[in-house]
Amino acid sequence: MTSYADFYRQSIDQPDAFWAEQGQLIDWHKPFDRVCNYDNPPFVHWFQGGLTNLCHNAVDRHLKDRADQAALIAVSSETGLEKTYSFKDLHDEVQRMAASLQALGVQKGDRVLIYMPMIAEAAFAMLACARIGAIHCVVFGGFASGSLASRIEDATPKVIVSADAGSRGGKALPYKPLLDEAIRLSSHKPNAVLLADRSLAPMDLVAGRDHLWNELRKTHRDAQVPCEWLDATAISYTIYTSGTTGKPKGVQRDTGGYTVALAASMRHIFDGRAGETFFSTSDIGWVVGHSYIVYGPLIAGMATILYEGLPTQGMDKKPNGGIWWELVEKYKVTVMFSAPTAVRVLKKQDPALLKKYDLSSLRALFLAGEPLDEPTARWISEGLNVPIIDNYWQTESGWPILTIANGVEQKPSKFGSPGVPMYGYNVKLLHEATGEELTAPGEKGVVVIEGPTPPGFMQTIWQDDSRFVQTYWKTVPGKTVYNTFDWGIRDADGYYFILGRTDDVINVAGHRLGTREIEESISGHLQVAEVAVVGVADALKGQVAMAFVVLRDAALLDDSAAAIKLEAEIMKRVDGDLGALARPARVRFVSALPKTRSGKLLRRAIQAVCEGRDAGDLTTMDDPAVLQQIKDKVAAA
Ligand code: PRX
Repeated sequence: MTSYADFYRQSIDQPDAFWAEQGQLIDWHKPFDRVCNYDNPPFVHWFQGGLTNLCHNAVDRHLKDRADQAALIAVSSETGLEKTYSFKDLHDEVQRMAASLQALGVQKGDRVLIYMPMIAEAAFAMLACARIGAIHCVVFGGFASGSLASRIEDATPKVIVSADAGSRGGKALPYKPLLDEAIRLSSHKPNAVLLADRSLAPMDLVAGRDHLWNELRKTHRDAQVPCEWLDATAISYTIYTSGTTGKPKGVQRDTGGYTVALAASMRHIFDGRAGETFFSTSDIGWVVGHSYIVYGPLIAGMATILYEGLPTQGMDKKPNGGIWWELVEKYKVTVMFSAPTAVRVLKKQDPALLKKYDLSSLRALFLAGEPLDEPTARWISEGLNVPIIDNYWQTESGWPILTIANGVEQKPSKFGSPGVPMYGYNVKLLHEATGEELTAPGEKGVVVIEGPTPPGFMQTIWQDDSRFVQTYWKTVPGKTVYNTFDWGIRDADGYYFILGRTDDVINVAGHRLGTREIEESISGHLQVAEVAVVGVADALKGQVAMAFVVLRDAALLDDSAAAIKLEAEIMKRVDGDLGALARPARVRFVSALPKTRSGKLLRRAIQAVCEGRDAGDLTTMDDPAVLQQIKDKVAAA
């Protein structure tokens, strides 16, 4: 067996040889003639000259050996629906969906926006797009009209695929009215909307624009839609993520590099084998859902569970904190992927639930998306008795940057650390102010990646190369390096520890949100003069958003009932614009916000005060009394 150190070194020192070998893990219609084109940094083109297709590698490729094996297992504890699609069934459904999209005018290169709950049709739609060379943009179903509208505007989709409703805790959440409102708000209008009708909520159909999947599916029952052979560098999808500005970034990914990266990660990191079952509890609206609910497991020939519902609700819709373990037992899940928040939720359940089911099929549980605290890691590790593997990555990277590659060499994990740099990632720590590389163990710096970034990594920001370069690659004076915007330290064994974001991004229950977007929504309230939103540590969700608002008319607050009403109004506004996920836990009214003398908002100082920490160096602060007022408000709560 190769040592991981050698494996890693080869990936960095001889990327062409390394990735040419990984390239053999997938099917190519035409082999590539150049492995890595890095002629124009930081842009990198992987596997140039090659022709392939993501859907072919996820579905068609397996028809020869495993047509009747389970591919997609759609389980909903919201509706009680549980259905297994074999690779052959999936192939049929995807072709029906592909033919329906084509009938609605979708062609290669067109965008299709997918705004859907966790139902099988969402996966059909993604795979159908990949099949015909359309670019999918999945928008998380928990986002509301404002977020959705800005994404429609940016992606300019020809067609939108959606549903009547999602469901949470047994309560239907209508999607269609939010979608209609988003289309109304957007200056771009789609030609058509394709809707899955789950009979959860009534829908008003717009004549000529809205179509029902149930009907088109019948029309295209026997459709045969071959895979479009695409350049390895052709765009497979975009996925929006938050950054420092209010405008979300369309992270754009290629076809060949992404397929290879996922195939390689399934082997070297997740150690998932064809014929087994993979269960990721994420959502297709997030990058984890793209890579490790839909594409990764299927590429590896595994069955993948697509689960709609809470981790604490049974198939009979009654409370059941063992539902996930029930699924592990029933479908003999070998590899599971979740987030620390979910484990913290389960930790509150009866510990006997972990002993009630036969979990002997499980080999490992992967956790990502937010820092994994030691008590949570220990609790689940003792309960499951399998390795708990923390992995650190981003929407931008598409697959883990830091973790342990047990498929290459078994290595111990360390509590609190996601692990070591993965093959292909030349990870460095830089001094925040000077940009100098930090090489001594234990020094805190900014985590950066030197180019060329590996296959699967974002190509650029959709339609904005210069924003891509400026936002990610030009933040360190004199250097062109990819900035993760995370703080980190490295120990003497080369293990990294992630210490949170350097920018205004917050992480609520593993969901990445931009505080600027929340601030923009709150600023839209007529009474609001100024607002600062910060992320504050929370025992369950990791972080929650906290809003500090300066009102136009401070006298309003003399009446405490008015303050309560205003807080509710502001929260409702955020719900309507962005979705309940972004709703601040509290809105506090203050007479001023702490700023530097040059007027820059001191979010980090507010955050420190909220968390009871020292606010640090306040010499640049304009008026320290302002911070004292925030301290008093927080203390009084
Ligand atoms: O701050 C890091 C945190 O989540 C950010 C990326 O979020 P997102 O784009 O939604 O991608 C999630 C993919 C798993 C990172 O910049 N983060 C992610 N994983 C970890 C983490 N922080 C600590 N430990 C992790 N394992």
